[in-house]
Amino acid sequence: MFGKIKFYEKKSNDVSIEFENGRASVDIITPSIINFFSTLSTERRASKAVENLKRMPGKITVDFIDGQVLVYTEKLKVSITDNFMVDIFDLNGKRICSDYRGEDKPFVRRGNDDDGNIAAEEGHQLEEERKSQKIKILKQLNPGSYFYGLGDRTGHLNKLGYHYKMWNTDNPNPHVESFETMYKSIPFFVALEKKTAYGIFFDNSYETVFDFGKENSNYYSFSAVDGNLDYYFIYGPSAKEVIFGYTLLTGTTPLPQLWTLGYQQSRWSYAPEKRLQEIANNFRKKDIPCDVLYLDIDYMDGYRVFTWDQQKFPNHEKMLDRLKGQGYKIVTIIDPGVKKDKGYSIYDQGLKNNYFATDRDGIPYVNRVWPGKALYPDFSNQAVRHWWAENQKILVNHGVAGVWNDMNEPASFDGPLPDDVQFNNDGRLTDHREIHNVYGHYMSKATYEGIKTATNKRPFVITRASYAGTQKYATVWTGDNQSLWEHLRMSLPMLMNLGISGFAFCGTDVGGFGFDCTPELLSRWVQVGAFTALFRNHSSASMRDQEPWAFDEKTESINRKYIKLRYRLLPYFYDIMHDEETTGLPMIRPLLLDYQNDENVYGINDEFMSGSNILVAPVVEQGKTARMVYLPKGNRWI
Ligand code: GLC
Repeated sequence: MFGKIKFYEKKSNDVSIEFENGRASVDIITPSIINFFSTLSTERRASKAVENLKRMPGKITVDFIDGQVLVYTEKLKVSITDNFMVDIFDLNGKRICSDYRGEDKPFVRRGNDDDGNIAAEEGHQLEEERKSQKIKILKQLNPGSYFYGLGDRTGHLNKLGYHYKMWNTDNPNPHVESFETMYKSIPFFVALEKKTAYGIFFDNSYETVFDFGKENSNYYSFSAVDGNLDYYFIYGPSAKEVIFGYTLLTGTTPLPQLWTLGYQQSRWSYAPEKRLQEIANNFRKKDIPCDVLYLDIDYMDGYRVFTWDQQKFPNHEKMLDRLKGQGYKIVTIIDPGVKKDKGYSIYDQGLKNNYFATDRDGIPYVNRVWPGKALYPDFSNQAVRHWWAENQKILVNHGVAGVWNDMNEPASFDGPLPDDVQFNNDGRLTDHREIHNVYGHYMSKATYEGIKTATNKRPFVITRASYAGTQKYATVWTGDNQSLWEHLRMSLPMLMNLGISGFAFCGTDVGGFGFDCTPELLSRWVQVGAFTALFRNHSSASMRDQEPWAFDEKTESINRKYIKLRYRLLPYFYDIMHDEETTGLPMIRPLLLDYQNDENVYGINDEFMSGSNILVAPVVEQGKTARMVYLPKGNRWI
């Protein structure tokens, strides 16, 4: 569609190319990171993920030979031909990544009757028709390729053969391999082929789609319903260097306070105060270390954010002080939905200052979440982020140690937010389609900045929804999993892929959120949790108790043993998070990061490295007491 190259022009680190039907640019960020850009649908927009980019392009030369614009960096040769076709080579001439020249030809999905598919009559879910995509890039797919990343996707470590959509989604059904969307949208992946790794970060916050050879095994693709063509190619050749490059663009997780790496206990909900105190006392009495207790939505007055239920928690300041004396940090939940309720100060302030997302006529948009009818603060507006940041004082000035941001996909009980809900987008008005995937990102940013200003300490924010770069502001968990062996098993590849996607500080609800846990499952889950960055046991309202002592003495002592082991290893974990600030390397890693020369590890789902010195091979099946472990060569394993 770009047509033939007409001319090109080099300006410092940027080569701009004029085609018959458009203009594109190739921007050298570092010798290994190159941005490919063209304004397609909207004007050029500031990235929501990349802030304060430091360019270190090194020496660049540009040439025009045989119809190709050739750009040489100190690491790569990039060839651009007609139609903005891109081929990337290393300096020995080895091809690393190429645009696909064939036809965009997805497989045909056949129904079984003339009108479509009668299978739906029995309740079978029909595959959605694919939305039309304004931008679609096809890359050649070679045999022996592996793909990783994309944040919190279900399924396996290797994403080859799968198709995913980036659209933050709160779906409480049991998460399975066929889910195309999850809570987070991290449009970044690492490709590994013949021991060489590179990454692609498609920086587009609209709904994007990634297909790794599912629709056609000759190519893989990424596409978007709107926005611009704007992607970064990040060369390895090691996957570690790709992650380093990706986090150079989107940021690393700042070293957290030490207590955040301790054991954390949560539940929907510990209320009233007496119940919370009982839990706090029990940990101490039973000699089970615990640093953090959570207050879920029931601590609030009618789910009004930044309030306390005076009946259940009559003197929260005194309570927080007492728990502090017992060595606890308290983290409270804050959802974005502000109750529509005249006289409630947060609502009144938001309304008066036009802080809520609106319909096209400027009327605040209303949907429903926990408090009933609720409005959505427009976090894409700097003024709203500032207001929200200030509101954190209501919590942290009274002794709350961290803030848990939930329901920020954003969730909505009365159907999805319409596409045309209006957002300020830092002064360049836009609609829900562009902001949806960054809503949780901006909420976390505001929360992080508010806590930082108010406390002058390293903030602890935990969020459910995220976009690329949210790792700078918040730790994440994988949302509403269930107490299922399958979910314990799947948490491993899920967390490994989150780690590859820049989220060094992540975890799952240990024991499972929905469904009732069993003693054996909790014991096995705690053994995994002890080696993941966020180590938090959490469960849903109406599920059976799931604290370490909730079953029997055996389960309790297994919990105690592994939680204590975690504390013995804390200096090691703290070091990992310290190194991660510069390398971007996560605590929980697939084996391929440390053993890229061993192709046997590329698809291992049920082992991971916790840092680079501990290999964890947990039991994730009921009734098993032994399992095979693959130990890569090159180390003396103890
Ligand atoms: C959502 C969260 C869950 C929380 C619940 C109540 O389901 O994912 O963690 O406990 O809301 O706030």
